Amino acid sequence: MQKNISPSSLARDDRFNRQTSEERFSDRRNPFEVGNIDPTAEDVADRARRRMHGIFVGEIQALEGAGRTAFDFSTEEVPYELKLDMARQCWDEARHCEISIKLAEHMGGELGEYVETTTLFEAACHDDPVFRLAGVNRALEGLAIDVFSQMRDFGEEMSDPILEYCEDYMLADEVTHVRMGSKWLRAVTEDDPERRKAALEFQKVVDGLFNFRGQRSEDDDAPIRLARQFRKMAGFTDSEVDHIAETSLKQKAELEADLMAASILAEEN
Ligand SMILES: [Fe+2]
Ligand SMILES: [Fe+2]
Repeated sequence: MQKNISPSSLARDDRFNRQTSEERFSDRRNPFEVGNIDPTAEDVADRARRRMHGIFVGEIQALEGAGRTAFDFSTEEVPYELKLDMARQCWDEARHCEISIKLAEHMGGELGEYVETTTLFEAACHDDPVFRLAGVNRALEGLAIDVFSQMRDFGEEMSDPILEYCEDYMLADEVTHVRMGSKWLRAVTEDDPERRKAALEFQKVVDGLFNFRGQRSEDDDAPIRLARQFRKMAGFTDSEVDHIAETSLKQKAELEADLMAASILAEEN
């Protein structure tokens, strides 16, 4: 079997619609207009379905990424126990795929209704397993912690126990996946501070992208609510969570400045 496959080689049937990461992150529309799953919003059902579809395709890629990391490296490159943890994660993510697609159907959605970008899998293609742990298990699985804790609360607010309990169940697994990332990142780089530092820098880049131009914060009404307590259970320090929040705040200010400039330009024309 081939090692280090490219994102374009992922097996998908014609129900899926692919968008490139470049297209996704160069979309200049105001993300705040579409990102929030506010229970009082008129189009809340559409927003929640879009979010659920994003979770579903994320779960598929998390499964694929963990599977590749279990397979792509020899036991000279990574401890065997790390590979076992990745295999356990595959098992969890496979269950999450099934749960998420059923939840999407429960919410009236269907596969392929929204696009799929392969950004998560791209972070799982790094040559260095430590960077995969930082970019996927800490940055992207960390995002899953934020999203699931918020969706669990959303389920409760909408009096939907199916959504609430399913999200709570998956959230517990995601805390474990992030904790695996924190544990192995520390263990594998024990005698190599430079490699650890570089991997943590890579994580910051991925975290920055997934702030979605400032949509992530600890505010109750944030489109993506930073789940500090769950992140800490998974090995994040307060200063790491602070860094995500501060970066996101800067990105939000930049976005607002961009939108202001665009509206002035539009008025002048
Ligand atoms: Fe998952
Ligand atoms: Fe996960």
